[in-house]
Amino acid sequence: MQENPLSRAAAARPAQGTGLTLHEPAQDADWWREAVVYQVYVPSFSDSDGDGMGDLRGVTARLGHLAGLGVDALWLTPFYPSPWADGGYDVSDYRDVDPRHGTLDDFRELLARAHGHGLKIIIDIVPNHCSDQHPWFVEALASAPGSAARDRFHFRDGLGAPPGPPSGPAAREVGGGPGGSEPPADWQSKFGGGAWSRTRDGQWYMHIFAAEQPDLNWENPEVAADFERTLRFWLDLGVDGFRVDVAHRLRKDLVPPLRATHGNDAAPLNSPPQGDNHPFWDRDEVHEIYRSWRKVLDAYEPPRIAVAEAGVSAARLPMYTRPGELHQAFNFFHLRCPWDARSFRDVIDTSLGGARSVGTLPTWVLSNHDVVRHVTRYGLPEGTDLNEWLLTDGREPAPDLARGRRRARAAALLTLALPGTAYLYQGEELGLPEVADLPAGALRDPMWERTGHAQKGRDGCRVPLPWQEDGPSYGFGPSGGWLPQPKGWGGFSAEAQTGRADSFLELYRTALRLRRGFRGSEGVEWLPAEDGEVAFRRGGVLECRVNLSGRPVPLTSGGEPLLSSDVGSGEGMLAPDTAVWLKPAVRGG
Ligand code: NOJ
Repeated sequence: MQENPLSRAAAARPAQGTGLTLHEPAQDADWWREAVVYQVYVPSFSDSDGDGMGDLRGVTARLGHLAGLGVDALWLTPFYPSPWADGGYDVSDYRDVDPRHGTLDDFRELLARAHGHGLKIIIDIVPNHCSDQHPWFVEALASAPGSAARDRFHFRDGLGAPPGPPSGPAAREVGGGPGGSEPPADWQSKFGGGAWSRTRDGQWYMHIFAAEQPDLNWENPEVAADFERTLRFWLDLGVDGFRVDVAHRLRKDLVPPLRATHGNDAAPLNSPPQGDNHPFWDRDEVHEIYRSWRKVLDAYEPPRIAVAEAGVSAARLPMYTRPGELHQAFNFFHLRCPWDARSFRDVIDTSLGGARSVGTLPTWVLSNHDVVRHVTRYGLPEGTDLNEWLLTDGREPAPDLARGRRRARAAALLTLALPGTAYLYQGEELGLPEVADLPAGALRDPMWERTGHAQKGRDGCRVPLPWQEDGPSYGFGPSGGWLPQPKGWGGFSAEAQTGRADSFLELYRTALRLRRGFRGSEGVEWLPAEDGEVAFRRGGVLECRVNLSGRPVPLTSGGEPLLSSDVGSGEGMLAPDTAVWLKPAVRGG
Protein backbone atom coordinates (compact mmCIF):
# COMPACT_ATOMS: atom_id res chain seq x y z
CA MET A 1 0.00 0.00 0.00
CA GLN A 2 1.26 3.42 -0.97
CA GLU A 3 2.34 5.61 1.92
CA ASN A 4 0.33 8.73 2.29
CA PRO A 5 2.25 11.98 2.90
CA LEU A 6 -0.72 13.29 4.87
CA SER A 7 -0.68 10.39 7.28
CA ARG A 8 3.04 10.89 7.63
CA ALA A 9 2.33 14.52 8.51
CA ALA A 10 -0.16 13.55 11.18
CA ALA A 11 1.93 10.77 12.64
CA ALA A 12 5.15 12.77 12.58
CA ARG A 13 3.76 15.17 15.16
CA PRO A 14 2.57 13.09 18.08
CA ALA A 15 1.54 14.95 21.22
CA GLN A 16 4.49 15.17 23.51
CA GLY A 17 2.95 13.81 26.69
CA THR A 18 0.37 15.53 28.80
CA GLY A 19 2.55 17.77 30.93
CA LEU A 20 2.82 21.53 30.98
CA THR A 21 5.67 21.74 28.51
CA LEU A 22 3.34 21.78 25.49
CA HIS A 23 1.27 24.58 26.82
CA GLU A 24 1.93 28.21 26.07
CA PRO A 25 -1.39 29.87 26.82
CA ALA A 26 -2.32 33.27 25.49
CA GLN A 27 -1.29 35.82 28.10
CA ASP A 28 -2.51 39.13 26.77
CA ALA A 29 -5.78 40.89 27.62
CA ASP A 30 -7.15 39.82 24.23
CA TRP A 31 -6.56 36.13 24.95
CA TRP A 32 -10.24 35.37 24.34
CA ARG A 33 -10.27 36.52 20.69
CA GLU A 34 -8.56 33.41 19.33
CA ALA A 35 -8.70 30.95 22.17
CA VAL A 36 -9.82 27.37 22.59
CA VAL A 37 -12.30 27.07 25.45
CA TYR A 38 -13.14 23.62 26.80
CA GLN A 39 -16.63 23.21 28.24
CA VAL A 40 -16.60 21.24 31.47
CA TYR A 41 -20.09 19.93 32.19
CA VAL A 42 -19.23 19.61 35.87
CA PRO A 43 -21.66 16.81 36.87
CA SER A 44 -20.20 14.47 34.24
CA PHE A 45 -16.53 15.38 34.06
CA SER A 46 -14.79 13.72 37.00
CA ASP A 47 -16.01 12.56 40.41
CA SER A 48 -13.44 12.70 43.22
CA ASP A 49 -15.54 11.42 46.12
CA GLY A 50 -17.61 8.55 44.72
CA ASP A 51 -21.08 10.06 45.02
CA GLY A 52 -21.61 9.56 41.28
CA MET A 53 -21.62 13.30 40.61
CA GLY A 54 -18.71 15.21 39.09
CA ASP A 55 -17.13 17.79 41.36
CA LEU A 56 -14.63 20.62 41.49
CA ARG A 57 -11.88 18.48 43.00
CA GLY A 58 -12.43 16.09 40.11
CA VAL A 59 -11.80 18.96 37.69
CA THR A 60 -8.68 20.02 39.59
CA ALA A 61 -7.34 16.48 39.38
CA ARG A 62 -7.68 16.53 35.59
CA LEU A 63 -6.11 19.92 34.89
CA GLY A 64 -2.95 18.24 33.63
CA HIS A 65 -4.99 16.46 30.94
CA LEU A 66 -6.63 19.72 29.85
CA ALA A 67 -3.37 21.67 29.80
CA GLY A 68 -1.77 18.84 27.82
CA LEU A 69 -4.67 18.89 25.39
CA GLY A 70 -3.69 22.47 24.67
CA VAL A 71 -6.81 24.46 25.53
CA ASP A 72 -6.61 28.02 26.86
CA ALA A 73 -9.62 28.17 29.14
CA LEU A 74 -12.33 26.11 30.80
CA TRP A 75 -16.00 27.02 30.93
CA LEU A 76 -17.50 25.41 34.01
CA THR A 77 -21.26 24.78 33.86
CA PRO A 78 -23.22 25.64 37.05
CA PHE A 79 -21.91 24.15 40.29
CA TYR A 80 -23.98 26.38 42.59
CA PRO A 81 -26.48 25.17 45.21
CA SER A 82 -29.42 23.85 43.27
CA PRO A 83 -32.32 21.41 43.77
CA TRP A 84 -31.32 20.12 40.31
CA ALA A 85 -34.66 20.47 38.56
CA ASP A 86 -32.62 21.34 35.43
CA GLY A 87 -29.13 19.94 35.96
CA GLY A 88 -27.98 22.93 38.04
CA TYR A 89 -29.49 25.64 35.79
CA ASP A 90 -31.98 26.21 38.62
CA VAL A 91 -29.79 28.10 41.07
CA SER A 92 -30.87 28.58 44.69
CA ASP A 93 -27.73 30.49 45.77
CA TYR A 94 -25.59 32.30 43.20
CA ARG A 95 -22.61 32.83 45.49
CA ASP A 96 -21.81 29.40 46.83
CA VAL A 97 -20.98 25.84 45.76
CA ASP A 98 -23.42 22.93 45.93
CA PRO A 99 -22.12 20.32 48.40
CA ARG A 100 -22.45 17.63 45.72
CA HIS A 101 -19.85 19.57 43.69
CA GLY A 102 -17.63 20.62 46.62
CA THR A 103 -17.01 23.80 48.57
CA LEU A 104 -15.93 27.37 47.94
CA ASP A 105 -12.46 26.37 49.08
CA ASP A 106 -12.45 23.67 46.41
CA PHE A 107 -13.32 26.36 43.90
CA ARG A 108 -10.48 28.62 45.13
CA GLU A 109 -8.08 25.69 44.84
CA LEU A 110 -9.29 24.85 41.34
CA LEU A 111 -8.91 28.45 40.23
CA ALA A 112 -5.40 28.77 41.64
CA ARG A 113 -4.27 25.47 40.14
CA ALA A 114 -5.85 26.24 36.77
CA HIS A 115 -4.10 29.59 36.68
CA GLY A 116 -0.89 27.80 37.61
CA HIS A 117 -1.34 25.70 34.46
CA GLY A 118 -1.98 28.85 32.44
CA LEU A 119 -5.68 28.00 32.05
CA LYS A 120 -8.40 30.68 32.38
CA ILE A 121 -11.67 29.90 34.14
CA ILE A 122 -15.05 31.03 32.81
CA ILE A 123 -18.11 30.26 34.90
CA ASP A 124 -21.80 30.13 34.04
CA ILE A 125 -24.16 32.84 35.16
CA VAL A 126 -27.88 32.12 35.00
CA PRO A 127 -29.69 35.47 35.14
CA ASN A 128 -32.98 34.75 33.38
CA HIS A 129 -34.39 32.58 36.13
CA CYS A 130 -33.50 31.14 39.50
CA SER A 131 -34.72 28.08 41.40
CA ASP A 132 -38.12 27.98 43.04
CA GLN A 133 -36.09 27.20 46.20
CA HIS A 134 -34.17 30.49 45.96
CA PRO A 135 -34.98 32.57 49.08
CA TRP A 136 -36.49 35.28 46.86
CA PHE A 137 -39.05 32.95 45.33
CA VAL A 138 -39.86 31.32 48.65
CA GLU A 139 -40.47 34.83 50.02
CA ALA A 140 -42.54 35.78 46.96
CA LEU A 141 -44.86 32.82 47.43
CA ALA A 142 -45.31 33.68 51.09
CA SER A 143 -46.09 37.32 50.23
CA ALA A 144 -49.27 38.91 48.96
CA PRO A 145 -50.04 39.62 45.29
CA GLY A 146 -48.66 43.05 44.44
CA SER A 147 -45.94 42.85 47.13
CA ALA A 148 -42.34 43.94 46.61
CA ALA A 149 -41.26 40.30 46.98
CA ARG A 150 -43.46 39.27 44.04
CA ASP A 151 -42.18 42.12 41.91
CA ARG A 152 -38.80 40.37 41.61
CA PHE A 153 -40.60 37.83 39.40
CA HIS A 154 -43.42 37.97 36.86
CA PHE A 155 -46.59 37.31 38.79
CA ARG A 156 -49.89 38.07 37.08
CA ASP A 157 -53.57 37.43 37.66
CA GLY A 158 -55.04 34.85 35.35
CA LEU A 159 -57.74 35.26 32.77
CA GLY A 160 -61.20 33.77 32.78
CA ALA A 161 -63.32 32.31 35.54
CA PRO A 162 -62.49 32.15 39.30
CA PRO A 163 -59.82 29.72 40.56
CA GLY A 164 -59.84 26.02 39.77
CA PRO A 165 -57.31 23.51 41.09
CA PRO A 166 -53.79 24.92 41.32
CA SER A 167 -50.89 23.60 39.22
CA GLY A 168 -47.10 23.56 39.40
CA PRO A 169 -44.75 22.79 42.29
CA ALA A 170 -45.10 26.25 43.75
CA ALA A 171 -48.80 25.56 44.10
CA ARG A 172 -48.06 23.44 47.12
CA GLU A 173 -46.49 26.32 48.95
CA VAL A 174 -49.16 28.93 49.66
CA GLY A 175 -52.82 29.38 50.60
CA GLY A 176 -55.92 30.18 48.45
CA GLY A 177 -57.29 33.47 47.02
CA PRO A 178 -58.94 35.07 43.99
CA GLY A 179 -57.82 35.09 40.38
CA GLY A 180 -58.61 33.78 36.86
CA SER A 181 -58.32 30.10 36.15
CA GLU A 182 -56.71 30.59 32.72
CA PRO A 183 -53.01 31.54 32.40
CA PRO A 184 -52.35 35.20 31.53
CA ALA A 185 -51.17 34.08 28.06
CA ASP A 186 -50.91 30.79 26.21
CA TRP A 187 -47.12 30.96 26.06
CA GLN A 188 -45.33 27.61 26.02
CA SER A 189 -42.35 26.59 28.14
CA LYS A 190 -39.17 25.53 26.27
CA PHE A 191 -39.32 22.30 28.23
CA GLY A 192 -42.95 21.51 27.34
CA GLY A 193 -46.25 22.53 28.88
CA GLY A 194 -47.33 26.08 29.65
CA ALA A 195 -44.97 28.93 30.55
CA TRP A 196 -47.21 30.00 33.44
CA SER A 197 -47.86 28.07 36.67
CA ARG A 198 -50.40 28.91 39.26
CA THR A 199 -49.87 29.55 42.95
CA ARG A 200 -52.38 28.62 45.61
CA ASP A 201 -53.62 32.16 45.96
CA GLY A 202 -54.65 32.08 42.31
CA GLN A 203 -51.91 34.22 40.78
CA TRP A 204 -49.69 32.88 38.02
CA TYR A 205 -45.94 33.24 37.56
CA MET A 206 -43.95 33.02 34.37
CA HIS A 207 -41.23 30.47 33.64
CA ILE A 208 -39.74 30.06 30.17
CA PHE A 209 -38.21 26.76 31.30
CA ALA A 210 -39.42 24.37 34.04
CA ALA A 211 -41.96 25.48 36.66
CA GLU A 212 -39.09 25.17 39.17
CA GLN A 213 -37.25 27.96 37.28
CA PRO A 214 -39.26 31.16 37.80
CA ASP A 215 -38.18 34.01 35.50
CA LEU A 216 -36.71 37.04 37.23
CA ASN A 217 -38.03 40.55 36.60
CA TRP A 218 -35.10 42.51 35.19
CA GLU A 219 -37.02 45.76 35.42
CA ASN A 220 -36.74 45.49 39.18
CA PRO A 221 -33.52 47.30 40.22
CA GLU A 222 -32.98 44.86 43.09
CA VAL A 223 -32.53 42.04 40.56
CA ALA A 224 -29.93 43.96 38.57
CA ALA A 225 -28.10 45.00 41.75
CA ASP A 226 -27.99 41.45 43.08
CA PHE A 227 -26.54 40.09 39.84
CA GLU A 228 -23.91 42.77 39.86
CA ARG A 229 -23.03 41.61 43.36
CA THR A 230 -22.78 38.04 42.06
CA LEU A 231 -20.51 39.09 39.20
CA ARG A 232 -18.22 40.93 41.61
CA PHE A 233 -18.23 38.05 44.07
CA TRP A 234 -16.74 35.65 41.51
CA LEU A 235 -14.56 38.29 39.86
CA ASP A 236 -13.05 39.15 43.23
CA LEU A 237 -12.23 35.47 43.67
CA GLY A 238 -10.36 35.71 40.37
CA VAL A 239 -12.53 34.18 37.63
CA ASP A 240 -11.64 35.25 34.09
CA GLY A 241 -15.15 35.54 32.71
CA PHE A 242 -18.73 34.38 32.42
CA ARG A 243 -20.89 32.40 30.05
CA VAL A 244 -24.29 34.08 30.10
CA ASP A 245 -27.19 31.62 30.05
CA VAL A 246 -30.09 32.52 27.69
CA ALA A 247 -28.66 36.02 27.38
CA HIS A 248 -31.38 37.09 24.93
CA ARG A 249 -34.38 36.44 27.17
CA LEU A 250 -33.88 38.63 30.21
CA ARG A 251 -36.12 41.54 29.26
CA LYS A 252 -39.83 41.06 28.66
CA ASP A 253 -42.78 43.05 27.50
CA LEU A 254 -45.46 42.07 29.99
CA VAL A 255 -47.65 45.14 29.61
CA PRO A 256 -51.25 43.89 29.30
CA PRO A 257 -52.78 42.61 27.14
CA LEU A 258 -50.04 40.01 26.70
CA ARG A 259 -49.31 39.31 23.06
CA ALA A 260 -49.37 35.91 21.42
CA THR A 261 -46.01 34.40 20.47
CA HIS A 262 -47.17 32.57 17.34
CA GLY A 263 -45.92 29.22 18.58
CA ASN A 264 -42.25 30.27 18.52
CA ASP A 265 -41.68 28.91 21.99
CA ALA A 266 -41.94 25.36 20.76
CA ALA A 267 -38.90 25.80 18.47
CA PRO A 268 -35.77 23.84 19.47
CA LEU A 269 -33.60 25.31 22.21
CA ASN A 270 -31.52 28.19 20.81
CA SER A 271 -33.29 28.57 17.46
CA PRO A 272 -34.31 32.10 16.63
CA PRO A 273 -38.02 32.89 16.38
CA GLN A 274 -39.63 34.16 13.23
CA GLY A 275 -40.70 37.78 13.29
CA ASP A 276 -39.61 40.51 15.64
CA ASN A 277 -40.95 42.34 18.69
CA HIS A 278 -41.38 39.05 20.49
CA PRO A 279 -42.61 39.66 24.06
CA PHE A 280 -39.68 37.85 25.69
CA TRP A 281 -37.10 37.03 23.05
CA ASP A 282 -34.18 39.18 21.95
CA ARG A 283 -35.73 42.50 22.92
CA ASP A 284 -33.63 45.61 22.41
CA GLU A 285 -33.82 46.52 26.11
CA VAL A 286 -31.73 43.48 27.03
CA HIS A 287 -28.62 45.26 25.79
CA GLU A 288 -28.81 47.82 28.61
CA ILE A 289 -27.95 44.96 30.97
CA TYR A 290 -24.84 43.98 29.04
CA ARG A 291 -23.65 47.55 28.74
CA SER A 292 -23.71 47.79 32.53
CA TRP A 293 -22.02 44.38 32.94
CA ARG A 294 -19.26 45.39 30.55
CA LYS A 295 -18.38 48.29 32.83
CA VAL A 296 -18.03 45.86 35.72
CA LEU A 297 -15.85 43.49 33.69
CA ASP A 298 -13.65 46.29 32.38
CA ALA A 299 -12.99 47.64 35.85
CA TYR A 300 -10.88 44.55 36.66
CA GLU A 301 -7.23 44.21 35.77
CA PRO A 302 -6.81 42.46 33.43
CA PRO A 303 -10.36 43.02 32.12
CA ARG A 304 -12.62 39.99 32.34
CA ILE A 305 -14.82 38.65 29.56
CA ALA A 306 -18.31 37.32 28.89
CA VAL A 307 -19.78 35.10 26.19
CA ALA A 308 -23.49 35.14 25.38
CA GLU A 309 -25.64 32.12 24.81
CA ALA A 310 -28.14 33.85 22.57
CA GLY A 311 -30.34 31.87 20.19
CA VAL A 312 -31.13 34.80 17.92
CA SER A 313 -30.95 35.45 14.18
CA ALA A 314 -27.59 35.89 12.42
CA ALA A 315 -28.55 39.50 11.76
CA ARG A 316 -29.12 40.27 15.45
CA LEU A 317 -26.36 38.16 17.02
CA PRO A 318 -23.59 40.76 16.50
CA MET A 319 -25.59 43.25 18.59
CA TYR A 320 -24.59 41.26 21.69
CA THR A 321 -20.91 41.83 20.96
CA ARG A 322 -20.97 45.50 20.02
CA PRO A 323 -18.27 47.63 21.61
CA GLY A 324 -19.26 48.20 25.22
CA GLU A 325 -21.33 44.98 25.43
CA LEU A 326 -20.28 41.33 25.71
CA HIS A 327 -17.13 39.96 24.12
CA GLN A 328 -18.44 36.94 22.28
CA ALA A 329 -21.60 35.01 21.44
CA PHE A 330 -21.92 31.33 20.70
CA ASN A 331 -22.24 30.49 17.03
CA PHE A 332 -25.04 27.94 16.83
CA PHE A 333 -25.26 28.38 13.05
CA HIS A 334 -21.98 26.50 12.76
CA LEU A 335 -23.32 23.76 15.04
CA ARG A 336 -26.52 23.38 13.00
CA CYS A 337 -24.86 23.63 9.59
CA PRO A 338 -25.69 20.68 7.29
CA TRP A 339 -22.76 18.64 5.93
CA ASP A 340 -22.51 20.60 2.74
CA ALA A 341 -19.73 22.79 1.36
CA ARG A 342 -21.93 25.67 0.23
CA SER A 343 -23.72 25.82 3.60
CA PHE A 344 -20.43 25.88 5.56
CA ARG A 345 -19.05 28.63 3.33
CA ASP A 346 -22.21 30.67 3.90
CA VAL A 347 -22.09 30.17 7.66
CA ILE A 348 -18.40 31.08 7.79
CA ASP A 349 -18.88 34.21 5.67
CA THR A 350 -21.91 35.34 7.65
CA SER A 351 -20.21 34.66 10.99
CA LEU A 352 -17.00 36.46 10.06
CA GLY A 353 -18.89 39.37 8.52
CA GLY A 354 -21.24 39.76 11.48
CA ALA A 355 -18.41 39.65 14.00
CA ARG A 356 -16.24 42.02 11.96
CA SER A 357 -19.06 44.54 11.74
CA VAL A 358 -18.72 45.01 15.50
CA GLY A 359 -14.94 44.67 15.68
CA THR A 360 -14.69 41.14 17.06
CA LEU A 361 -14.12 37.59 15.85
CA PRO A 362 -16.72 34.81 15.82
CA THR A 363 -16.90 31.71 17.95
CA TRP A 364 -17.19 28.19 16.54
CA VAL A 365 -19.18 25.48 18.28
CA LEU A 366 -19.94 21.89 17.22
CA SER A 367 -21.48 20.47 20.39
CA ASN A 368 -22.55 21.34 23.91
CA HIS A 369 -24.56 19.83 26.76
CA ASP A 370 -27.88 20.66 25.06
CA VAL A 371 -27.53 18.87 21.72
CA VAL A 372 -27.01 15.35 20.35
CA ARG A 373 -23.24 14.79 20.10
CA HIS A 374 -21.95 15.61 16.64
CA VAL A 375 -20.28 12.24 15.92
CA THR A 376 -23.80 10.84 16.01
CA ARG A 377 -25.48 13.77 14.25
CA TYR A 378 -23.04 13.48 11.35
CA GLY A 379 -23.78 9.76 11.17
CA LEU A 380 -27.52 10.30 10.71
CA PRO A 381 -29.23 11.12 7.42
CA GLU A 382 -29.51 14.87 6.84
CA GLY A 383 -32.77 16.23 8.20
CA THR A 384 -33.32 13.46 10.78
CA ASP A 385 -35.70 14.68 13.48
CA LEU A 386 -33.36 14.17 16.45
CA ASN A 387 -36.14 14.13 18.98
CA GLU A 388 -38.06 11.43 17.12
CA TRP A 389 -34.82 9.51 16.67
CA LEU A 390 -34.05 9.66 20.40
CA LEU A 391 -37.51 8.29 21.13
CA THR A 392 -36.55 5.13 19.20
CA ASP A 393 -33.50 4.79 21.52
CA GLY A 394 -31.34 5.74 18.55
CA ARG A 395 -32.38 2.76 16.42
CA GLU A 396 -34.52 4.35 13.68
CA PRO A 397 -32.56 5.13 11.64
CA ALA A 398 -29.36 3.47 12.84
CA PRO A 399 -26.55 6.06 12.64
CA ASP A 400 -23.53 5.29 10.47
CA LEU A 401 -21.01 5.98 13.23
CA ALA A 402 -17.97 5.28 11.06
CA ARG A 403 -19.11 8.09 8.77
CA GLY A 404 -20.02 10.24 11.77
CA ARG A 405 -16.52 9.84 13.18
CA ARG A 406 -14.87 10.68 9.85
CA ARG A 407 -16.98 13.80 9.53
CA ALA A 408 -16.44 14.80 13.15
CA ARG A 409 -12.66 14.60 12.67
CA ALA A 410 -12.89 16.67 9.50
CA ALA A 411 -15.24 19.15 11.22
CA ALA A 412 -12.72 19.51 14.05
CA LEU A 413 -10.00 20.56 11.60
CA LEU A 414 -12.39 22.89 9.78
CA THR A 415 -13.49 24.48 13.07
CA LEU A 416 -10.00 24.80 14.54
CA ALA A 417 -8.71 26.34 11.31
CA LEU A 418 -11.03 29.34 11.55
CA PRO A 419 -10.08 32.67 13.11
CA GLY A 420 -11.90 33.32 16.38
CA THR A 421 -12.54 31.17 19.42
CA ALA A 422 -13.46 27.50 19.36
CA TYR A 423 -15.62 26.13 22.17
CA LEU A 424 -15.11 22.39 22.62
CA TYR A 425 -17.55 20.25 24.55
CA GLN A 426 -16.05 17.73 26.94
CA GLY A 427 -15.72 14.34 25.29
CA GLU A 428 -15.63 15.63 21.72
CA GLU A 429 -11.86 15.28 21.89
CA LEU A 430 -12.53 11.59 22.60
CA GLY A 431 -14.99 11.24 19.72
CA LEU A 432 -17.81 10.27 22.07
CA PRO A 433 -21.11 9.39 20.43
CA GLU A 434 -24.55 10.17 21.85
CA VAL A 435 -25.90 7.59 24.30
CA ALA A 436 -29.35 7.39 22.79
CA ASP A 437 -30.64 4.32 24.62
CA LEU A 438 -30.55 5.49 28.23
CA PRO A 439 -33.34 3.68 30.07
CA ALA A 440 -36.38 5.86 30.76
CA GLY A 441 -35.87 5.41 34.50
CA ALA A 442 -32.43 7.04 34.29
CA LEU A 443 -33.51 10.22 32.50
CA ARG A 444 -33.09 13.45 34.48
CA ASP A 445 -33.84 16.13 31.89
CA PRO A 446 -37.04 17.98 32.90
CA MET A 447 -38.15 17.84 29.26
CA TRP A 448 -38.92 14.14 29.60
CA GLU A 449 -41.62 14.59 32.25
CA ARG A 450 -42.83 18.05 31.18
CA THR A 451 -43.58 16.85 27.64
CA GLY A 452 -45.37 13.73 28.91
CA HIS A 453 -42.49 11.62 27.51
CA ALA A 454 -42.78 13.14 24.03
CA GLN A 455 -39.21 14.48 24.25
CA LYS A 456 -36.41 12.46 25.75
CA GLY A 457 -34.20 15.49 26.31
CA ARG A 458 -30.48 16.00 26.62
CA ASP A 459 -29.15 13.33 28.97
CA GLY A 460 -27.59 11.30 26.13
CA CYS A 461 -24.83 13.88 25.62
CA ARG A 462 -24.23 14.23 29.38
CA VAL A 463 -23.14 10.69 30.24
CA PRO A 464 -20.09 10.74 32.56
CA LEU A 465 -16.75 10.76 30.76
CA PRO A 466 -14.58 7.66 30.49
CA TRP A 467 -11.01 8.26 31.62
CA GLN A 468 -9.73 4.69 31.80
CA GLU A 469 -10.27 1.53 29.84
CA ASP A 470 -11.92 -0.22 32.75
CA GLY A 471 -12.70 0.06 36.45
CA PRO A 472 -15.87 1.38 38.07
CA SER A 473 -17.31 4.11 35.82
CA TYR A 474 -14.21 3.86 33.60
CA GLY A 475 -12.25 6.21 35.79
CA PHE A 476 -14.99 8.85 36.10
CA GLY A 477 -15.01 8.22 39.83
CA PRO A 478 -14.58 5.57 42.50
CA SER A 479 -18.15 4.29 41.93
CA GLY A 480 -20.87 4.50 39.26
CA GLY A 481 -21.91 7.77 37.62
CA TRP A 482 -25.26 9.59 37.94
CA LEU A 483 -26.14 8.39 34.42
CA PRO A 484 -25.27 4.86 33.31
CA GLN A 485 -22.32 4.55 30.91
CA PRO A 486 -22.64 2.09 28.04
CA LYS A 487 -20.60 -1.11 27.93
CA GLY A 488 -17.29 -0.57 26.17
CA TRP A 489 -17.25 3.17 27.07
CA GLY A 490 -13.67 2.67 28.29
CA GLY A 491 -12.57 2.16 24.68
CA PHE A 492 -13.14 5.91 24.22
CA SER A 493 -11.14 6.85 27.29
CA ALA A 494 -8.20 9.20 27.30
CA GLU A 495 -6.10 6.28 28.54
CA ALA A 496 -7.07 4.10 25.57
CA GLN A 497 -6.41 6.85 23.03
CA THR A 498 -3.18 8.35 24.33
CA GLY A 499 -0.25 7.63 22.03
CA ARG A 500 -2.40 6.15 19.24
CA ALA A 501 -1.63 8.29 16.20
CA ASP A 502 -5.03 7.58 14.63
CA SER A 503 -7.06 8.49 17.73
CA PHE A 504 -9.39 11.45 18.17
CA LEU A 505 -7.44 12.59 21.19
CA GLU A 506 -4.11 12.74 19.37
CA LEU A 507 -5.77 14.51 16.44
CA TYR A 508 -7.08 17.18 18.82
CA ARG A 509 -3.77 17.47 20.65
CA THR A 510 -1.83 17.95 17.44
CA ALA A 511 -4.42 20.32 15.97
CA LEU A 512 -4.48 22.52 19.09
CA ARG A 513 -0.70 22.70 19.13
CA LEU A 514 -0.50 23.68 15.46
CA ARG A 515 -3.38 26.14 15.86
CA ARG A 516 -1.30 28.34 18.13
CA GLY A 517 0.79 29.18 15.08
CA PHE A 518 -2.27 30.55 13.21
CA ARG A 519 -3.09 33.26 15.75
CA GLY A 520 -3.02 36.82 14.54
CA SER A 521 -3.91 35.84 10.98
CA GLU A 522 -7.54 36.89 11.15
CA GLY A 523 -8.63 36.82 7.51
CA VAL A 524 -10.06 33.93 5.52
CA GLU A 525 -9.35 33.88 1.79
CA TRP A 526 -11.45 31.42 -0.18
CA LEU A 527 -9.46 29.31 -2.63
CA PRO A 528 -10.65 27.69 -5.85
CA ALA A 529 -12.16 24.35 -4.81
CA GLU A 530 -13.63 21.19 -6.25
CA ASP A 531 -17.38 20.67 -6.13
CA GLY A 532 -18.28 19.84 -2.53
CA GLU A 533 -14.95 21.03 -1.19
CA VAL A 534 -14.29 23.94 1.17
CA ALA A 535 -10.82 25.46 0.73
CA PHE A 536 -9.41 28.57 2.33
CA ARG A 537 -6.17 30.14 3.35
CA ARG A 538 -5.14 32.21 6.35
CA GLY A 539 -2.26 34.40 5.28
CA GLY A 540 0.97 32.50 4.94
CA VAL A 541 0.25 30.21 7.87
CA LEU A 542 -2.50 27.81 6.87
CA GLU A 543 -4.35 26.31 3.97
CA CYS A 544 -7.36 24.23 5.00
CA ARG A 545 -9.20 21.89 2.62
CA VAL A 546 -12.26 19.88 3.54
CA ASN A 547 -13.95 17.39 1.24
CA LEU A 548 -17.64 17.32 2.13
CA SER A 549 -18.61 15.45 -1.01
CA GLY A 550 -19.19 11.72 -1.20
CA ARG A 551 -16.26 11.07 -3.57
CA PRO A 552 -12.47 11.60 -3.45
CA VAL A 553 -11.31 14.91 -4.91
CA PRO A 554 -7.85 15.69 -6.28
CA LEU A 555 -5.64 17.43 -3.76
CA THR A 556 -4.49 20.31 -5.89
CA SER A 557 -2.51 22.27 -3.33
CA GLY A 558 1.22 22.75 -3.60
CA GLY A 559 1.41 23.31 0.15
CA GLU A 560 3.31 21.23 2.66
CA PRO A 561 1.05 18.80 4.55
CA LEU A 562 0.72 19.57 8.26
CA LEU A 563 -2.16 17.41 9.43
CA SER A 564 -4.94 15.27 8.03
CA SER A 565 -8.15 14.11 9.68
CA ASP A 566 -7.77 10.78 7.90
CA VAL A 567 -4.54 8.89 8.29
CA GLY A 568 -5.60 6.56 5.44
CA SER A 569 -6.16 9.11 2.63
CA GLY A 570 -4.88 8.13 -0.80
CA GLU A 571 -1.87 9.87 -2.37
CA GLY A 572 -2.74 13.07 -4.20
CA MET A 573 -6.41 12.73 -3.33
CA LEU A 574 -8.58 14.01 -0.53
CA ALA A 575 -10.92 11.23 0.61
CA PRO A 576 -14.63 11.92 1.26
CA ASP A 577 -15.36 13.51 4.66
CA THR A 578 -11.74 14.41 5.18
CA ALA A 579 -9.93 17.64 6.03
CA VAL A 580 -6.31 18.54 5.59
CA TRP A 581 -4.12 21.37 6.85
CA LEU A 582 -1.20 22.49 4.73
CA LYS A 583 1.45 25.12 5.02
CA PRO A 584 0.69 27.32 2.00
CA ALA A 585 3.12 27.30 -0.85
CA VAL A 586 4.84 30.64 -1.33
CA ARG A 587 2.87 32.51 -4.01
CA GLY A 588 4.49 32.89 -7.35
CA GLY A 589 7.27 30.60 -6.15
C1 NOJ B 1 -29.42 26.93 28.39
C2 NOJ B 1 -28.60 25.86 29.05
O1 NOJ B 1 -27.51 25.55 28.22
C3 NOJ B 1 -29.53 24.69 29.28
O2 NOJ B 1 -28.83 23.54 29.69
C4 NOJ B 1 -30.55 25.10 30.30
O3 NOJ B 1 -31.48 24.05 30.46
C5 NOJ B 1 -31.30 26.35 29.84
N1 NOJ B 1 -30.42 27.37 29.33
C6 NOJ B 1 -32.07 26.96 31.00
O4 NOJ B 1 -31.19 27.52 31.92
